[in-house]
Amino acid sequence: MIKGLIFDLDGVLVSTETNHYVAWKLIADELKIPFTEKENEKLKGLSRADSLSALLDLGKRSISHLKFKTILDYKNKIYLKSIEKINQSNLLPGVLEFIKEKHEKNHLLAVGSSSRNAHFILKKTKIDHFFTCVIDGNMVKKPKPDPEVFINASSGLGLPRSECLVFEDAESGVIAAKKGGFHVIGVGNLKIKDSCDYFIKNMGEFDLSSYEESI
Ligand code: BG6
Ligand code: MG
Repeated sequence: MIKGLIFDLDGVLVSTETNHYVAWKLIADELKIPFTEKENEKLKGLSRADSLSALLDLGKRSISHLKFKTILDYKNKIYLKSIEKINQSNLLPGVLEFIKEKHEKNHLLAVGSSSRNAHFILKKTKIDHFFTCVIDGNMVKKPKPDPEVFINASSGLGLPRSECLVFEDAESGVIAAKKGGFHVIGVGNLKIKDSCDYFIKNMGEFDLSSYEESI
């Protein structure tokens, strides 16, 4: 019996994954590192700092600690500027209906995200009140692909992992959920289709009862 639903944020609940990509692309261009959506797949789900390390690895570059920190702040500035008008219309297809319905039916909902901006985004999109527990990038020692974020989310819901489902769009997130022993539903990103337990194009497609019957 599934009682808890744990959602990644960027690319699962909200369309912000593109904003992260655009900000990293700008930085990659400035650093003259070849970077396209293909390379960006490796960054999805990683913390801000791990994303910059991955970008520098791609370009076989190393920079000073100070420059590293400056770029992180710069990236967040660009990103926050790009989402300054974010609102409920930026939720991905089917999300609002799905979480409303599950909340009404007394499922426990949580967010497990690498983003340090998660609380801000949940508030701006007016869905924060649906979640019993929000674990964001400020609250974990080891970010995805480590399972800590999802383990803390299930503990926050007071549920064993076997009673929770994780929804993810990134390879690092699927690895984290699997390592943590969770069922994982892949959302939207065809690149992860084969590594998750079940795949949906968007939340509107997901039928929890049928999924429960299949496991
Ligand atoms: C993840 C995104 O949810 O959060 C990554 O998939 C992003 O692309 C990461 O880098 C960190 O986000 P933030 O908002 O803390 O820079
Ligand atoms: Mg994501």
